[in-house]
Amino acid sequence: MVYGYLDGGADEERALRRSVTAYNDIELRHAVLHGIGHDDMDLRTKILGVETELPFFVTSCAGQRMFHADGEVATARAAKKHGCFMALSQLTTSTFEDVRAAHPDGAKALQLYVWRDRVLLKEVLDRAKEVGFTSLALTADFSWVGNRERETKTGFTVPPSYSMRQCIDAVKAPAWSFDFMSRVPYGYKAVPDADFPAESLVDFIAAQMKPEFDWKDAEWLISEWGDTGPVALKGVASGADAVRAVETGFKAVWVSNHGGRQLEDSVATIDVLPEVRRMVGPDVEVILDGGVRRGIDVVKGLALGADAVAVGRAYLYGLAAGGYEGVDKALTLLSRDVYLAMGLLGCRTVAELKAKAPELVLVNPHNALAGRQLKLLRDVEL
Ligand code: FNR
Repeated sequence: MVYGYLDGGADEERALRRSVTAYNDIELRHAVLHGIGHDDMDLRTKILGVETELPFFVTSCAGQRMFHADGEVATARAAKKHGCFMALSQLTTSTFEDVRAAHPDGAKALQLYVWRDRVLLKEVLDRAKEVGFTSLALTADFSWVGNRERETKTGFTVPPSYSMRQCIDAVKAPAWSFDFMSRVPYGYKAVPDADFPAESLVDFIAAQMKPEFDWKDAEWLISEWGDTGPVALKGVASGADAVRAVETGFKAVWVSNHGGRQLEDSVATIDVLPEVRRMVGPDVEVILDGGVRRGIDVVKGLALGADAVAVGRAYLYGLAAGGYEGVDKALTLLSRDVYLAMGLLGCRTVAELKAKAPELVLVNPHNALAGRQLKLLRDVEL
């Protein structure tokens, strides 16, 4: 049941599947006799103003104590070990303080949703500044909440409702059930003094989501954050919105479809990335997420125009399987893959990969990026 929440997407999960498989249609030309050794590699990257060791990072995912009792703190500890940047969800089940303490130099971005109550939102912003977050990501693709059919089918609730279905699921997952039963119940921790149970906060959040939030509200948010650091717009799926984001004052554009959890058949993010890069130009920070399951996907994202790539489920699977050790393992595998691919491609750095990308990347003609399938209706002659 909890696994379905982690793994699932919207409706029939076509957007989710396509976001994952779109990477398969991008081929790469390896280099030979390039003379680059292991010690020559340098994958350091600046993400939302912070220097990190890796060009990918663990991104904002809600309610991580649902997956493992150590939740966001386990994720932060593993990210610290790998010198990996971290964005924390506003729907965190660990406190801001605990997460920042676990990874003081890298858990620097806070993701926000578009809440109705500006006073409350401002309180969250003030707390975030106090605790030491230096950047924000405004998630803009969630103000209408997607239809998660898998959650309906599995009877997922927050917190558990102890229905017959849930009890059977719990018996089938004894390690998770033991972990769940033997630790402090989780609650959402971003709202000041929010020591109320998750269930009532979920209702509260549903009531707080503001579907009519618009560019003016976004301007307000940016001005409230002031010169604390960059604000990214997360959930962009078109070049036009990316340009508008930059004009509005966002310092980074985050291409995302919320992991295929919102609009069914939303475009695969890797397919829309080149359009976004082309339209904002080379100097705006562009972040990509969606469907990244292996390090090679990270490399493809960088080659196609991202400055950094965010991963969600790829580390959450590790968290659910083994807490800190699981996230550590996931990050080990991802970074090993990234180093290997970069070595085989003959690229020492992300900048070198970007410069060589036009010669390295081949796009299967059936892939949307090749332009055969991805045409706006207005451009199709009927
Ligand atoms: C998410 N995502 C998400 N995004 C966000 O801005 N705030 C949030 O609280 C959450 N919560 C969340 C929970 C879970 C279980 C998942 C899987 C995802 C979306 C997330 O930040 C990111 O955009 C996607 O996860 C990227 O896709 P992949 O890497 O999971 O395929």
